[in-house]
Amino acid sequence: MTDYPALAASLSTTDPVAIIARALDEGGGDAAISFSGAEDVLLIEYASQTKRPFRVFSLDTGRLHAETYRFFAAVEEHYRLRIEYCFPEAAAVERLVRAKGLFSFYKDGHQECCGIRKVEPLRRQLGALACWITGQRRDQSPTRANVPVVQVDSQFTGLQGRPLIKWNPLANRSRDDVWLAIRALGVPFNPLHERGFVSLGCEPCTRAILPSQHEREGRWWWEEATHKECGLHQGNLSPH
Ligand code: ADX
Ligand code: SF4
Repeated sequence: MTDYPALAASLSTTDPVAIIARALDEGGGDAAISFSGAEDVLLIEYASQTKRPFRVFSLDTGRLHAETYRFFAAVEEHYRLRIEYCFPEAAAVERLVRAKGLFSFYKDGHQECCGIRKVEPLRRQLGALACWITGQRRDQSPTRANVPVVQVDSQFTGLQGRPLIKWNPLANRSRDDVWLAIRALGVPFNPLHERGFVSLGCEPCTRAILPSQHEREGRWWWEEATHKECGLHQGNLSPH
């Protein structure tokens, strides 16, 4: 088995296009980009630059902004691809909203709703993959300060219960690096970014921020910064 910490160290300053090429070479048809509809669109641009076939999936929580749905369609058109949308289990969503209403997360935290709308569908999707490619960056959050370029996923397993490899090709890039690249390369972006939204998630749990606020202050703003992982990247909160 590859020594992933050593590989991460050796790739730590490598160009993200080369990292994605490596991920696609290793994972083949069982690798996929996890696309949230935000500036992680750059992963799709970079994957297209590798000239290799690649897959993209998005978790459609049912609560995304209208702009994000339109943006998904624009990305599909621009890159001539079909996003693999992952939906939550209808019965679980029904149970939650019938018992607690549509905005329970403001009262008792986002974990339950995220668990149903994001984590369970993600677990299902990842269970059919060998590796996933995310847009996580170290500068996004105190919880992501140590995110490596590649790691064995400590939270999810892959195809046939095998270890799942998690690639984070933008880990060592800053928000400025990402936005400079998006603009220089003419990559389409979500128009919400022009309206003060920096980190983007579901509509009821995301808001615009003021200059100098940290980007995570726009997510689940009623909760503590050190707990702001919705479950997709919960492994960041525990040693691995
Ligand atoms: S979150 O855990 O707080 O929601 P964040 O919005 O910072 O995550 O995004 C980090 C990375 O997680 C994204 O670049 C993407 O790879 C993945 N991700 C987040 N939300 C989604 C989503 N709705 N669909 C697919 N991938 C997602
Ligand atoms: Fe539910 Fe908010 Fe989590 Fe979206 S971000 S799944 S609406 S708690």
